[in-house]
Amino acid sequence: MSSSGQPGRLRSFPVLPVCVVEDHQDVLPFIYRAIGSKHLPASNISFVHFDSHPDLLIPVNMPADTVFDKEALFSELSIENWIMPVVYAGHFSQVIWLHPIWAQQIKEGKHDFLVGKDTSTTTIRVTSTDHYFLSDGLYVPADQLENQKPLHLNVILVNPTEASSSQEENGETFSAKRLKLNTENAATVSSSKAEVPKGDPSNSKDEGGKEKTFAQDKLESLASCTPENSACQLMEIVEDVLEVLQKGDAYVLDIDLDFFSVKNPFKEMYTQEEYKILQELYSFKKPDRSPTEEDLLNCVENRIHQLEDLEAAFADLCDSDDEETLKRWASYPGMQPLVQLVHSLKNRLEAPDYEMVHQAGLTCDYSELPHHISTEQEIGGLIQSVKQVLKKIPKPTLVTIARSSLDDYCPAEQVDVIQEKVLNVLRSAFGTLDVHLAYSADSSSV
Ligand SMILES: *[C@@H]1O[C@H](CO)[C@@H](O)[C@H](O)[C@H]1NC(C)=O
Repeated sequence: MSSSGQPGRLRSFPVLPVCVVEDHQDVLPFIYRAIGSKHLPASNISFVHFDSHPDLLIPVNMPADTVFDKEALFSELSIENWIMPVVYAGHFSQVIWLHPIWAQQIKEGKHDFLVGKDTSTTTIRVTSTDHYFLSDGLYVPADQLENQKPLHLNVILVNPTEASSSQEENGETFSAKRLKLNTENAATVSSSKAEVPKGDPSNSKDEGGKEKTFAQDKLESLASCTPENSACQLMEIVEDVLEVLQKGDAYVLDIDLDFFSVKNPFKEMYTQEEYKILQELYSFKKPDRSPTEEDLLNCVENRIHQLEDLEAAFADLCDSDDEETLKRWASYPGMQPLVQLVHSLKNRLEAPDYEMVHQAGLTCDYSELPHHISTEQEIGGLIQSVKQVLKKIPKPTLVTIARSSLDDYCPAEQVDVIQEKVLNVLRSAFGTLDVHLAYSADSSSV
């Protein structure tokens, strides 16, 4: 444990707080408040994030120092870019993104990289070369970054538990007991676990003497995991999550309800033809297979220019979308399809919202935004999986939930049902909750 001994001085919430917001970045004030009140440490927090989107982009033009002015920071953030500034501020050191099969924006597995201030632009940038970051022009080499913060990111797929096998899971193969961490590390894993009152029923499972050790479980799962064996897959997820939690002093559990069912709102705004043109205009040219640093820098530079041109073009079209303006922009390299797109929009709409068109375009880079409206059964299967995982990991310090329904990511007709199921899962895994509904009443029937 660090010599400051800071985690030991953390206060504990008597009951697990659960904050439910509408737009995802609005969970941050709750997290900052918990840091301010010393319920969370100021650094070395692990962030466990269930979502159909990584939300790991960076506000492109925001000066890095903005993170040290909380109110200014909150006003700059939006749904896709609110986590990395918190990493740069030094609060989050580990992030786990747990995603459903239809969300493949970042490569599976462990990513260790630096987040820092780019010395030339003074904005926040990263050293990761994943396409997720390259396609937004966010990569810089380490020697260009100051005030570097190491980030451990783990990307983990969660499959639904089939209804047939969920029976088994109540039996021997995957009982609801919590896995024990090896005892040496257990004390440092989560201060919140130590805070749990003695009588807490969710903790008493740990006292059972005949429980398997973590190492035994691991050996068994490595020996027997097949794609059909969802109990085994869940065991592997639990192992990965616990391994990351051991690296931090406390953790926040965060769930976007669109993890369970998600729409691409832009798909309903544009025709298929228009959407295809957007994908063409905004397509990202990936670097070669094993790129040199120079290749990466070229890739990023070209990408930044491409996006700047497109932004300028649509800003111009906002002022005037006459043929002359259109022709001028269409003469830029790669921008020819603009003509057909704008004609189609003008035919269909009184006054096309070109700013929105650009926003939609920015989501079409190398992979489409996830779009998968789940059946009731699929939602149930994912709920089961989340439940099995949460039952085997320590209690978080704080839970944050985003509905993401007003902007049409989580289907409006499903969001309330999903929220209810998630709150029930949290109760069954962690006991009594202190639920704060921090979204406007007219957005929900609750
Ligand atoms: C973060 O927490 C872990 C677990 O308590 C500890 O081993 C590690 O030294 C901490 N890292 C820092 C930088 O304080």
